[in-house]
Amino acid sequence: MRNYLIAGNWKMNTTISEARDLAKAVSKSAPHNGNVIVLGCPPFVNIQAVAEIAKGTHLKVGAQNCYFEKKGAYTGEVSIDMLKAIGCDYIIIGHSERRAIFCESNELINKKVIAILASGLTPILCIGETLDERNAGKTFDVLKTQLDGCLAGVAVEDIPKVVVAYEPVWAIGTGVSATSNEVSEAHAWLRNYFVDKCGDFTAKKIYLLYGGSLSDANAKETLAIDNVDGGLIGGAALVAEKFITIINTAVELAGDTGAAPSCCCGCK
Ligand code: 13P
Repeated sequence: MRNYLIAGNWKMNTTISEARDLAKAVSKSAPHNGNVIVLGCPPFVNIQAVAEIAKGTHLKVGAQNCYFEKKGAYTGEVSIDMLKAIGCDYIIIGHSERRAIFCESNELINKKVIAILASGLTPILCIGETLDERNAGKTFDVLKTQLDGCLAGVAVEDIPKVVVAYEPVWAIGTGVSATSNEVSEAHAWLRNYFVDKCGDFTAKKIYLLYGGSLSDANAKETLAIDNVDGGLIGGAALVAEKFITIINTAVELAGDTGAAPSCCCGCK
């Protein structure tokens, strides 16, 4: 039996009515009490509406970003407590679009990880190399620098409360997913990184998601790979039928027993 987290990153898409329609369709397909968690991360302004639809279903709701300070003069920012109050359980942080377009550093992302954990929510920490970095043979140096920086000061017992999403930048939104070999190699490296950091038992509890052109067409192949515990899905998460196919693929691969997930703190 395997556990999966299937997460949709809706990015800057969906008006409120589109968000409601998507949430209604997806929430009906979120499996009941199984070992597959389904998550939708709409834009900030649609979170509350989606959370109301998700209530009483097995769809979880998350945000795509947050600020680490509690409150105050931070024009344009949204706090973790604000997100928690409207029904968020997860917050994506360090997405490559935020790193590249909004100049987010590992140091800033680290502050967000620590603040999210302190609030009891689950951070989904995105990491990944650019094509130039991959071609220069620097993939694992980049991943190590990102992980070391973003997880600095996080206690070993809190590490499994962090979900890690490996998203090679060159595979995002391009329709060109990483090959099975590339995903397998990166995820094995990630698992080993955490074995070194916190031991075998704890490392196995960490959800390692793959993201980057993951779709209904390649979900079976990708989700079957060892050390892939789910996906962070962009484009295909905006089309209910495609996202539901990915959910159903995970349910099939999980060998869903109908048992409740082993832990509710974010880890597997
Ligand atoms: P795509 O699935 O559109 O490639 O986006 C992946 C992503 O960035 C999810 O966070």
